[in-house]
Amino acid sequence: MSDSIELAPALRAAQMPLAQIPVIDVSALYGGPGEDEMVAQIGKACREIGFFYAINHGVPEALIAEVYAEARRFFALPEAEKERVAIEQSACHRGWFRVGGENLDPAKQAKGDLKEGYKVGRDLAPTHERVVAGVPLHGPNQWPDFLPGWQDVMQAYYDEMVALGRRMIGAFALALGMEENFFEPWLGITMTTLGPLHYPPQSGHITEAQIGAGAHTDYGCLTLLQQDAAGGLQVQRRDGVWVDAPPIPGAYVVNIGDMMERWTNGVFQSNPHRVINISGGERYSLPFFFDPDFYAPVECLPTCLQPGEAPKYAPTTAGAHLLEKIYASFEYKQAEV
Ligand code: OGA
Ligand code: NI
Repeated sequence: MSDSIELAPALRAAQMPLAQIPVIDVSALYGGPGEDEMVAQIGKACREIGFFYAINHGVPEALIAEVYAEARRFFALPEAEKERVAIEQSACHRGWFRVGGENLDPAKQAKGDLKEGYKVGRDLAPTHERVVAGVPLHGPNQWPDFLPGWQDVMQAYYDEMVALGRRMIGAFALALGMEENFFEPWLGITMTTLGPLHYPPQSGHITEAQIGAGAHTDYGCLTLLQQDAAGGLQVQRRDGVWVDAPPIPGAYVVNIGDMMERWTNGVFQSNPHRVINISGGERYSLPFFFDPDFYAPVECLPTCLQPGEAPKYAPTTAGAHLLEKIYASFEYKQAEV
């Protein structure tokens, strides 16, 4: 950290030995030995901190590098170019949002997060029955077709990540004591989203009033994140202590979101996390949000209710749950309500 940066005490992560967040070899997602061990490790991580690093995940390094390159290429454009695919123009929450456009901690931050991003979702044609029916969050992507090749790279990575997410959620089902294919019926048209992010550098006296990504829990089911070498991701443990989640080259940071917490009645908890880019340079990350079908029920799973225990959350659906969260955190949606 350079001496022109001063973090408010509330933003300092505890200096702890490494291994706060477990590193799990997930090669058994593709079959072969080690599945029981992997499932046990995933279950333990989700019960204890809600985060783990996944290594040997099978996503080609070269593809990840291309996605970073395309993300940088887009974010480096002049604002007027980016406006051509602004999220405000999309009926289904796709495209570019400016710095401050998302506010993950509205209770503390007046101006929104110090990051810009781009939402790529499932690319459904305007003639698709759900789009015709006006189902929220369903529809075509906005593509910056003035950047040749951009769409192909993003779509290839998106497809790869949907496949990885499907495998991963099978392991989660096993970790919850259910059949591997338990979630399958809820994965019809997954509401999966790739959301590349760009964090400008931050310096000076930094407080919780504005950081890269304000403290939040993720909304959905699973998040699979690539972060570059800049660092700055922090995770809050269940005891309230903030710890660093430093980059491990090539590894995914996997964490669970509020929907998984609801399904599991809090057995798997979605832990708060935040980003403060004090690297002195730009920071890029590639979160991928794996969420189920709009109509998937979100209510306590049968294996997650102990005798005598009551569900902590009212039943809802994946679509209703996500819409509520998105409306609460995106500035352009505030104007609509
Ligand atoms: C998010 C998030 C972390 C990062 O987008 O929900 O927590 O490193 N991102 O960008
Ligand atoms: Ni998050």
